[in-house]
Amino acid sequence: MPKVFLKTYGCQMNERDSEAVAAQLLSRGYALTESESDADVVLFNTCSVRDAAELKAVGKMKFMAADFRKQKRKVVLGFMGCMAQARGRGLLEEMPQVSLVVGTQKFHKMADYLDAVLAGHGTRVCDIAEEPGSQSMVREHLSVLPGGEARVSAFVSIMQGCNQRCTFCIVPQTRGMERSRTIEEIVMETRALVAQGVKEITLLGQIVTSFGRREIPEKDGKSAFVRLIEAVHGIEGLERVRFTAPHPKGFGEDLIEAYGRLPKLCPSAHIPIQSGSDRILKLMHRGYTAEHCLEIIGNLRRVQPALGLTTDIIVGFPGETEEDFERTLALVKAAEFDNAYLFKYSPRQGTPAADMPGQLSQEEKESRHTRMLDLVNEIAARRYEKLVGTKVQALVEGPSKRNSARLTGRTRCNKIVVFEGSDRLRGQLLDLRIDRAGAFTLYGDPARVNLE
Ligand code: SAH
Ligand code: F3S
Repeated sequence: MPKVFLKTYGCQMNERDSEAVAAQLLSRGYALTESESDADVVLFNTCSVRDAAELKAVGKMKFMAADFRKQKRKVVLGFMGCMAQARGRGLLEEMPQVSLVVGTQKFHKMADYLDAVLAGHGTRVCDIAEEPGSQSMVREHLSVLPGGEARVSAFVSIMQGCNQRCTFCIVPQTRGMERSRTIEEIVMETRALVAQGVKEITLLGQIVTSFGRREIPEKDGKSAFVRLIEAVHGIEGLERVRFTAPHPKGFGEDLIEAYGRLPKLCPSAHIPIQSGSDRILKLMHRGYTAEHCLEIIGNLRRVQPALGLTTDIIVGFPGETEEDFERTLALVKAAEFDNAYLFKYSPRQGTPAADMPGQLSQEEKESRHTRMLDLVNEIAARRYEKLVGTKVQALVEGPSKRNSARLTGRTRCNKIVVFEGSDRLRGQLLDLRIDRAGAFTLYGDPARVNLE
């Protein structure tokens, strides 16, 4: 039974794709291993969004290849996902030890290709072609987590690709055009997960608010995406529904209204603003203004005052002046995010922004990154602190990674909370009183919940 070490770089979409590949490999007689030291196969599911992610994966693969050669071990090496898609055969040329390059629409072929490479003498495979219907192929789940525990929360891939063509982003190239699954397929997959004990699902895609835009008509003023949320919301036994990643433009009235109406739709939203300068937003081809973002956030908070809110921000986009940057600082202050994922602009080959004038130096990007990080942390600390003394509901996920004597879970507004309790509570919805706030973590006490 060949053992596969599968490592994932990048986003939640990649994590989900890797899980589906892992499930496929297990069903085809492969075993999974947590370490490369006893692996027969090493697969990297890669990310292309920033240069650093690519460098890391290539560097690590070269290091491993050299190490295996020194140890005289024959290990099959392969790349899949976004970087495989973007670089294709070039990866085979650059690394003679690599024998598999599998693109983002071919995950379902992984076991076939691996069989071929392991059986053949010197067989090398590169498949980065398009595959109609590939959006419906990411559907297998592992029935237990790699550690052997039953799963409480699961991701469900609802679509592939993105048509938005933000000028900085390589995703439309690596993931292709938007293709959505049907609502029926997604409901069926979610039902099966709930039957296995899953309580919370996150609907997943590069631009989920565009789900089914072409294929599924609006009904009663509700977009296909809101219709999908309603459909999974109706599944008995499912307690919580989340989604990521949306586009700010997708927070129309129907979605905002859904936050107020559907109790399982958790009061948390990721609204990737990218910048607070309308001039830069235009250059990015984002299709909204800073004011529009604040309006959406205001509307969401009106229907869900306890809303948890996160964002993505790019600092140092080409041509970004000090004034543009200060507008982003101002938007971050006004929006009061609970957390923000900050990225230094990284030019990606073939994207319009890579050729725009006014590219910033690394030092300028670093300095703006630090200034933004300080602000984000300051606001987050304040917002976490505000929750001390309040009552929250946690979905118990299992022992905390840092201290296995404690449990960890997530609040409805998507914050990590750590507390004392027995592992038997896993999968339960537990009321807690927040005693203390740390860096992006809350500490709660189930015993004191009804004291005040
Ligand atoms: N819709 C997807 C977008 C994928 S990229 C999602 O949210 O998962 C994720 C984030 O990476 C983007 O929101 C953006 O903030 C950042 N990003 C994308 N391309 C980038 C680039 N060229 N340089 C720096 N950051 C980038
Ligand atoms: Fe990328 Fe913009 Fe789509 S960030 S994934 S092109 S919405």
